[in-house]
Amino acid sequence: MGSHQESRVPIPRALFRPGEGARPPFLAGRAAEQKILVDAAEELEGKDTRGRTSIPQNIILYGPRGNGKTALALWLQDFTADQHRSCMPVRINAGDCGDDSDALARLLAPEPWRKRLMDRGWSASAFGFRLSLPARADEGWTVAQALASLPAQAPSLVIIDEAHMLVPGPCRQLLNASHELRSGGAPLLLLLVGTPELEDTLRSAKASHWERGRKIPLGRLDAASAPSALVEPLKMQDAFMNRDALEIAMRETLGYPFFLQLFGRRLVEAMNHAQARHADKPIAARAAKAFHMDQGDFYKGRRSELRSNGGTLPAAAAWGAINGFGEGASCDLVLAAMVPHCDDVDGMWRRLQRSGVLWETARGVEAGIPSLLDNVVRSAGPAADAAYQAGFSAGRAWAFGGR
Ligand SMILES: Nc1ncnc2c1ncn2[C@@H]1O[C@H](COP(=O)(O)OP(=O)(O)OP(=O)(O)O)[C@@H](O)[C@H]1O
Ligand SMILES: [Mg+2]
Repeated sequence: MGSHQESRVPIPRALFRPGEGARPPFLAGRAAEQKILVDAAEELEGKDTRGRTSIPQNIILYGPRGNGKTALALWLQDFTADQHRSCMPVRINAGDCGDDSDALARLLAPEPWRKRLMDRGWSASAFGFRLSLPARADEGWTVAQALASLPAQAPSLVIIDEAHMLVPGPCRQLLNASHELRSGGAPLLLLLVGTPELEDTLRSAKASHWERGRKIPLGRLDAASAPSALVEPLKMQDAFMNRDALEIAMRETLGYPFFLQLFGRRLVEAMNHAQARHADKPIAARAAKAFHMDQGDFYKGRRSELRSNGGTLPAAAAWGAINGFGEGASCDLVLAAMVPHCDDVDGMWRRLQRSGVLWETARGVEAGIPSLLDNVVRSAGPAADAAYQAGFSAGRAWAFGGR
């Protein structure tokens, strides 16, 4: 390693940002999705040849946890704000409103916003949407009134994160109001962001919404783009990884955005420890060791989610035991794995898919969260509960000729 690569100035520890909704230092591998989002925002601002607003399809961005849905939504919000576009981004988190429609209305149109509108004498009858308003800004507004107040001011991009957490009542109000406003020509675009459970959430609130929306599925980064998630931020710090280090990083993180940030943070620590600006094999190996400990905590959380989700943990254990930890399994193999210990295979498949354990892509079925099944299998020791153990044993028996 050349001495020019060594430095006593540490790389900032916060360069990489593992965590829910943390803006990554470099948004890797999402060019196709970014283009769809930008095109929709531009369409929303534009007018057709007869001067009418053109209203793009609502967008549904969905995928297993940790693949960067929030990061992409934040990027779009920043992009529209930075470009000084006429499009107004509004972002809320459905987890903050529970089953309370008033809370959803307050998130969409907070009190200062309502007051400003009322001071200006705004009436909610635009776009053929007949609504009378409460006399005061601090009185309860309905979801429809709150939503209608947005496109009346500017073309509005309403981003609802964690939208799978919407409960049917408020969700139905939101989708119905959006439908009426958009039919009346309101420049309003909903971007619904959530885990694969979002499909059920939308279907139970308003049957057609899932079908009519433009769907953007978000899985892991591909092998060509994943390295840039580490390499580009390091480059900005005048720091580099050699080929061996990058190989270790890619093997460990498997294109999963959350793991890339987690690994990146540990890599920076290892580089700073070695006072190096050039990560080589020993540095990456040291980072991997610390990364494994972080992963353990993460998997523990995911396992307890599976445990509370209709028996999906034993089925995941069976699958993991059978097919070499879930990478590249065929649908048939996964279904066969479940048959011995599962009454309702279709239902189980759906639950595994909705919880993000299984992720179906054009390439076939893959693990939504890589190595989770590996971890599930390793955790199926004597201390695991009976159902979990049974799933694992059934899977193993099947795999090794017991069936
Ligand atoms: N394209 C990307 N390139 C690099 N890092 C990314 C990318 N997308 C997301 N990340 C990082 O991955 C982590 C998870 O991202 P994010 O929270 O957006 O995922 P999510 O899909 O919204 O997860 P959840 O379903 O739990 O809300 C964050 O640390 C984020 O910085
Ligand atoms: Mg998120």
